[in-house]
Formats: sequence, structure tokens, C-alpha cells
Amino acid sequence: MPNLAEYLEANANQFQEALFELLRIPSVSADPAYSEDMGRAADWLTEKFEKLGLKTERITTSSYPILYAESPSVADAPVVLVYGHYDVQPPDPLDEWETPAFEPSVRNGNVYARGATDDKGQFLTHLLSVEAWLATRGPLPVQIKFLIEGEEECGSEALNELLDGKYTILGRPPLEALEADVAVISDTSQFGPGRPAITYGLKGIAYFQLNLTGPNQDLHSGSFGGAVSNPANALAALLASLIDGDGRIQIPGFYDDVGGLTESERKQFEELGFDEAAFKQQIGVGAVTGEKGFSTLERKWARPTFDINGLWSGYQGEGAKTVLPARAGAKFSFRLVPAQDPEKIASALKSYLQEHCPPGIELELQEMHHAPGVVVPLESPYLSAASRAIEAGFGKSPVYIREGGSIPIVTSFKTLLNMDTLLLGWGQNDDNMHSPNEKFSLEDFQKGIRSSAHLWEELGQLGR
Ligand code: BES
Ligand code: MN
Ligand code: MN
Repeated sequence: MPNLAEYLEANANQFQEALFELLRIPSVSADPAYSEDMGRAADWLTEKFEKLGLKTERITTSSYPILYAESPSVADAPVVLVYGHYDVQPPDPLDEWETPAFEPSVRNGNVYARGATDDKGQFLTHLLSVEAWLATRGPLPVQIKFLIEGEEECGSEALNELLDGKYTILGRPPLEALEADVAVISDTSQFGPGRPAITYGLKGIAYFQLNLTGPNQDLHSGSFGGAVSNPANALAALLASLIDGDGRIQIPGFYDDVGGLTESERKQFEELGFDEAAFKQQIGVGAVTGEKGFSTLERKWARPTFDINGLWSGYQGEGAKTVLPARAGAKFSFRLVPAQDPEKIASALKSYLQEHCPPGIELELQEMHHAPGVVVPLESPYLSAASRAIEAGFGKSPVYIREGGSIPIVTSFKTLLNMDTLLLGWGQNDDNMHSPNEKFSLEDFQKGIRSSAHLWEELGQLGR
């Protein structure tokens, strides 16, 4: 692609500037304090899509806007749906950032900013490759439909309403407008530096909040302790009982639908040559732990897990206070393998907790987001096309990996639109997704744009 390649090189700085502009908008979906910025990010994207000459709609929802933009249809060529999210996680803890979260700054070839890798830097590659294509080669070889939402980090409620038919897209029923042959999402990672990857499996999630109430007010722990149930003790005991020393989750029926890994998949994981020492060093731990009988990659990618995400009770201030707290609570989640049904897990958990809740404690379980996991078939002409495109863009053919994270919309694409998704992650495992000092490699950003341009070409050659 001579002209296009030259254009990409000549415009690398401009692409970077576009990314920095978007990163400067603090589009945090979880916190209503940023709602104006969410609107500004949506405006920025609308303008960008319109400048590309795409038919664009900024879909107003009961929550944040969803952007839709499409290029003209192309006879005998696939239709590609590109999904991304312009919302980002809250930037806190702020004092752990070396430079402010919404002032992109470059160190060591990486841009540091909230949203750099999740997901602004990644989905932008597809917009910019379209820009480059249109500027150098004319009409696109495939029809591309962009769907960029602003609520991925907190449950995608508006997008689900859209898919349910609550809004229209360019005057059409949403499922009709979004119809495509394959979806493309860049919101995952490579296997490592210089090891591009295609992700074929994502975990599901079932997220809960547990509230325990004991006596009608905080009590003196000497006068009352030992005579009544302490909600903090009860919380600790209940949560601890959910998993045993071998890392096995103790809810009856939890593993009913968990299939074992096939021998060939185990081997394939092993052959990737996961560097456990580097992994431990990256996160500053002396040991890896987890479900007995499985390797670290197997635990991360293909076994269900349980993690407490937050817990609270009692006195947190300076010094000591001898108190028996009236209340305790926790947020926790299970990451699920694709065959597990989050609803089934939720009801099994509910029964388990009710059965094990000590007398004198009132228990309330709130169900937060639930989403099933997904695996995409490895034998598909789209996947081979993506593999060739990545090889062209990164100079190396991709390995096939799974991830422990969740992208709930991938399942909806399959069930509602009968469409598989190409998960083409340009990020790195140490990009600090959801953490302080989030970053994205600027070289991978440019390689992502290049791969994306090759992807349109490869998909166009497939025909329908
Ligand atoms: N980009 C991530 C998904 C991801 C995480 C992929 C790690 C690969 C590795 C996405 O933005 C995300 O954070 N998803 C949430 C989903 C949840 C809010 C339903 C997640 O995994 O926690
Ligand atoms: Mn993401
Ligand atoms: Mn995320």
C-alpha cells in the first residue's frame, strides 16, 4: 500500500495529536461530576466522523450519547462493525500518577493518560486508518459501521436499551442498522512486547454487593462482644468460606458448567512461554497463587475466579476504638468461563449466603452487572484475514490468546446479531488499565493504525 503507507508516516504526528486531544477530555462515566465532559467527548467524535464524510448520528439516550457512523455499502464485500468505548475509569488515586491523568505526557515512547489504552488509543486506530484510506485510496473496500459507546465501564445500560430497540439508528431499527458480517474490537492486549495477539476468549462476570446488619447501633465491644453476632466477623467468615485453601469456590453447583481445558489448549497455553518471573516482578509479588492444578495462564484465562473488590465496616480512623459495628459490607465479583451462566451463579450464591448467615444478622445481596463470557471460533476466514493484517502492521504474525477481562457486548453481538468478533488488542499487559499511570505505546498506536488499514484491504478481498 505505497501511497497509504506514506500517508501514515507523514501523518503520524497528527494522529498522535488527535489522540492527545481526546485524552484531554476527562470522560469518566462512573461519576456524574464529569457528565459535561462526556458530552464533549461525544461531540469531538461526532465532528471527527462527520469530517470523514461518514453518515453519522449522535444518539441521545437516557444516559450518555452513543455514536454511530457508517461508510457507504460496498457490493460483494463484507460489512464490518467496529465497536469501542469513549468512557474511561475514574482516575483515582490521583496522587499515584506521575503526571496528571488528563494531561497526556510522553515518557519512553509511551503516552501516559487515563484512557490511553482503555480504550481511546485503541479504537481511534480504526478511525484514523479510515481517514488515511479515504485520503489516499478513495472509497473503502468494505462497509464500515462504527458504534462507540460511553458507558462500557459501568454496565452499558444505554447500549443494551439501544439493542432492545428503545432508540433508532439513522431512522432504522437498531438491529437492522447494525447488521454486519463481523465485528472488530480493539480493547484487549498483546501477549507481550513485540508479540501481537488475537484474543479468542473473554471471561464473564457476576458482580455483587453484600450488606450485613446486626444490632441497631454500634456497641461497646466489651459489654456486648461475644453475646451477639458481629457483622464484621460475619462478613469476614462468610467471604472466607466462599473459597478454600486450594482456590476452589465453595458454592454448591458453581463448577457444574465449567468444562476442563482440552489437552491441546493446555499445550497451546504452555507453548506461549509465559514468563512467570517477569509477571511477579511487574506487579511486585513474591509468589503466584490460585486454583490448585492449574498454571498461571490457565487461572487467568480459563478458570473461574473470586475476588473481593472492596469491603468496609467498623472504625477506620487513627488509634484504636473498641467497637462492635452495627453494619458491614463488601463488593465482590466472580469471573466466569464462557459456559457459566451468571444468573445461575447469582441464585446459587444467594442460597449459599442465606444458609450460612449467622443468627442475628440481616443479609442483603445486591446484584450488580452480570455478563457471560465468550469464545470465538478460531477457524474463520475473518480471523485469517485479521492475522495477515496484523502481520503486515506489526511485522510479526499474531499468537492466539485468551483474556481474563470482560467485554459484555461481544456476547450481545453473537446472540442478537449472530456475529463473531475479532478481538484485536494493541495494548500491553503492563499498560495499567484501570490503575494509576495508564499508558499506551505510541509505536503500537501507529502499528495498530497500519494493521487496521490492512484489515480493510484483507476483508475486502474476502468477498461476501
Ligand atoms: N477493556 C476492558 C476489558 C479487558 C480487560 C480486556 C482486561 C482484556 C483484559 C474493558 O474496558 C473492561 O474494563 N471491562 C470490564 C467489564 C465490566 C465493567 C462488566 C471488566 O472486565 O471489568
Ligand atoms: Mn475497555
Ligand atoms: Mn475498562
